[in-house]
Amino acid sequence: KYLQEIEVSEECRELISSLPTEKGWHPGNLYQYQGFWHLSQHLQKILTCQNQFEARDSDIILVTSPKCGTTWLKAMAFALVNRTKFNPKSTQHPLLSNNPQELVPCLEFAFESPKPNGVDSSPLPTPRLFSTHLPLVSMPESVKKSDCSCKIVYLCRNPKDTFVSLFHWEIKLRTEEMRSNLLEETFQNFCRGVSLYGPFWDHALGYWKQSLENPERVLFLRYEEMKEEPGNQLRKLADFIGCPFSKEEESFNVVHQISKLCSFDHLSNLEVNRTGKLSYGYNNSAFFRRGEVGDWKNHLTPQMAQKLDQISKEKWGDSGLTF
Ligand code: A3P
Repeated sequence: KYLQEIEVSEECRELISSLPTEKGWHPGNLYQYQGFWHLSQHLQKILTCQNQFEARDSDIILVTSPKCGTTWLKAMAFALVNRTKFNPKSTQHPLLSNNPQELVPCLEFAFESPKPNGVDSSPLPTPRLFSTHLPLVSMPESVKKSDCSCKIVYLCRNPKDTFVSLFHWEIKLRTEEMRSNLLEETFQNFCRGVSLYGPFWDHALGYWKQSLENPERVLFLRYEEMKEEPGNQLRKLADFIGCPFSKEEESFNVVHQISKLCSFDHLSNLEVNRTGKLSYGYNNSAFFRRGEVGDWKNHLTPQMAQKLDQISKEKWGDSGLTF
C-alpha cells in the first residue's frame, strides 16, 4: 500500500497542484509541503494524519529521517516497552518472527486515505508506540500542543552515512536503466535538500532545538552513540520513556539481552528478515545492509564528503548539533 496508487481527496489534489515539485523521482514526483519533500502518495496520508490523529499523553513517537536507523529504534523501543510481556530471551519473542517495521505502526501510514481508519480505532496497547518520518513542523497539532506530554524520540545519524544508506536504498528501487549516474544525481539532490522527508539537515535541526528547549518531551539520540554504547543508550531511552531498568533487571543483564536481541547481526540473520516481506511489499532484507558507522568512506569521494561536512556546518551552525 505504501507505493500503490491511493484514492486522493479533492483537498489533497488541490494542495498538490499548488506545491513546488521536483519531477523524475522514483516512484513519483516529489512535492514540497511545509518545507519538506514528499511523494504524492504520502501527502494524502500525511494530511489525514494531521487532521485525525489524537495524541495521548502516554504515546511514544519514534522519529527518524529515512535510513537513520528506524528499524533498529523500532526494535529497541518495542522490546523495552514490552519486556514484561515478552521476555527478551524468549524463543517466542515477536522480534524473532516479525520485522520491526511491522511491530510499530507508522503514524502517517496507519491512516487509510482519504477515509480515516487507523490509529485511533486500532486496539494498540498503552503506551501506544508509533514511528514517523514527519518533520516537527508537520506533526499533527495534537502532538505539538504544549499541554500534550507524549514522548518524542528522535534518532539521527551522520549525514554521510545517511546519504550512502539512502543511495543504496534508491538503487534497489530502480531498474537497471534508471541506475546510470545515480550516485551523482542522488548526491546533488540530497545536498539541495531534495530527498524523501528532506532537507535532512532541517529535519534534524527542528527536533534538536526542541530536545534542548523541552528535554522532558524530546530525546535526541545518535546512531553512532547507539553503536558505540548500546547499553547506555538503551538505559537512557528506557528512563526517558518511563520504563527504567530496575536493579533486579540490571542484575539479570536485561539491558544486554535487549541490545543483543536488537543488534544488527542478530536481526539481519533471522529467517523472517532474510526471506520475509512487509505487507506493503518491501523485502524485509532491504532494511538491513551493513549497519556500520563510517561506510561512507567506501562510497564517497573526498570532495563529496567535504561538501556534506560544509553543508552541515552551514545548516547547523552554532546550534550545537554536530557529528
Ligand atoms: P546501512 O544502509 O548503512 O547499512 P532505516 O531503518 O531508517 O531504514 O535505516 C536503515 C539503516 O539502518 C541501514 O543502514 C541498516 O543496515 C541499518 N540497520 C538496520 N537495523 C539495524 C540494527 N539492528 N543495528 C544497526 N543498524 C541497523
